[in-house]
Amino acid sequence: MESSGRSFILKGHICYTPEIGRLVIRENAFVVCEDGVCRGVFEEIPERYAGLKIIDCTDRLILPGMVDLHIHAPQYPFSGTGMDFGLLEWLDKITFPEEIRYANAEYATKAYRIFAQALKRGATTRAVIFGTIHTDSTLILEELMEKSGLVTYVGKVGMDRDVPPGLLEKSADFSAEETRRFIEETAKRGYRRTKPIITPRFIPCCSENMMRLLGQIRKEYDLPVQSHLSESPEEVELVREIAPEAAFYGDGYDRFGLFGRDSHTVMAHCVWSTPEEVKRIKENGVWIAHCPASNINLASGIAPIRRYIEKKMRVGLGTDVAGGHSDSMFRAVTDAIQVSKLYWRHVDQEAKALTFPESLYLATKGGGEFFGKVGSFEDGFEFDALVLDDSGIPCARELSVQDRLERAFYLGMDRMGIMMKFADGEQII
Ligand code: GUN
Ligand code: FE
Repeated sequence: MESSGRSFILKGHICYTPEIGRLVIRENAFVVCEDGVCRGVFEEIPERYAGLKIIDCTDRLILPGMVDLHIHAPQYPFSGTGMDFGLLEWLDKITFPEEIRYANAEYATKAYRIFAQALKRGATTRAVIFGTIHTDSTLILEELMEKSGLVTYVGKVGMDRDVPPGLLEKSADFSAEETRRFIEETAKRGYRRTKPIITPRFIPCCSENMMRLLGQIRKEYDLPVQSHLSESPEEVELVREIAPEAAFYGDGYDRFGLFGRDSHTVMAHCVWSTPEEVKRIKENGVWIAHCPASNINLASGIAPIRRYIEKKMRVGLGTDVAGGHSDSMFRAVTDAIQVSKLYWRHVDQEAKALTFPESLYLATKGGGEFFGKVGSFEDGFEFDALVLDDSGIPCARELSVQDRLERAFYLGMDRMGIMMKFADGEQII
């Protein structure tokens, strides 16, 4: 076996979660990447891989890359600001005024460069991203994401009702035409890592006509879907008023073929989903992007993630920048654990808090399944990995590898400790 760019072996403490709650740690072992595909973890290098380059990271922590299932690129400039509002007010006062700026390609280029650079430097290797309604700016975002080395889905957002003039698409037909243009232009560019995703923002700003057209486009191009669902009580109430024909919020997407069934669909939040809605999410195989920081900041509530896990539903984690103030998926992992403790204490004493191995699973293999075989070091998985150097925060005594890993997340070592990062077998740090 010859070495090539996407074929190599990493040596170090290999940590991954093949199942929810089961953290496997193999100390100073070897993980093999062959043509971008993981071939498993070994104590000794198998003969057939003897010719591959070995990258020696002895005593470093090696883990799968993080999958951010829900993030808004245009909101990155206001991360950590405007946090004193609930969802609907925050959209009107903070979010929409910022997103209007992306009509200007120059501003979009400047802002999206900063965003792409931040994601490249952090722990995220895959992301499902919202742009804005502006097709050309969202194409710029795609180009920058492709260059970053991350593997992403990027959506041109559809909004054709009840939003400020600068963010209102003039008709459902116009929104659909622009969505088509976005998809066709993306195809022409022949990206390897960047794909389009159908993105109706949420039911309050999408007309039925637009949803119907987006459903048709989705089917025609066989694309995945992303949106928001049952995030805050006020939003759920609003949807009940404006979409009375939907049996429940999620049904408002399902009626138009935008809710799983025969497409990969990810819905952010699902904090207030009714039993009927939960049943449909599960039946349709919809992914839930749990965004704990956003749920706290916008005081939306706490999603009952333990319940979803018990029902064997598909769950991953999202940062939801900038409802979530940080693009750090390490934070998302620890926030998910922390909010689950409050949920147990304050809401439902039968819903056990998440453990670190469970939350790590959600951030890797849980969300990774949206992309295919992603988020683990099992044989056949696309190779996404982080190598962490945790020596920057010394400790007076020797910690176990599991403690070191947990500490790396809680102490935010994705800010300074990423030594190397690989996405789909390519080294990007
Ligand atoms: N619902 C509709 N749009 C948004 C958004 O931009 N962020 C969040 N958190 N929820 C939304
Ligand atoms: Fe969001």
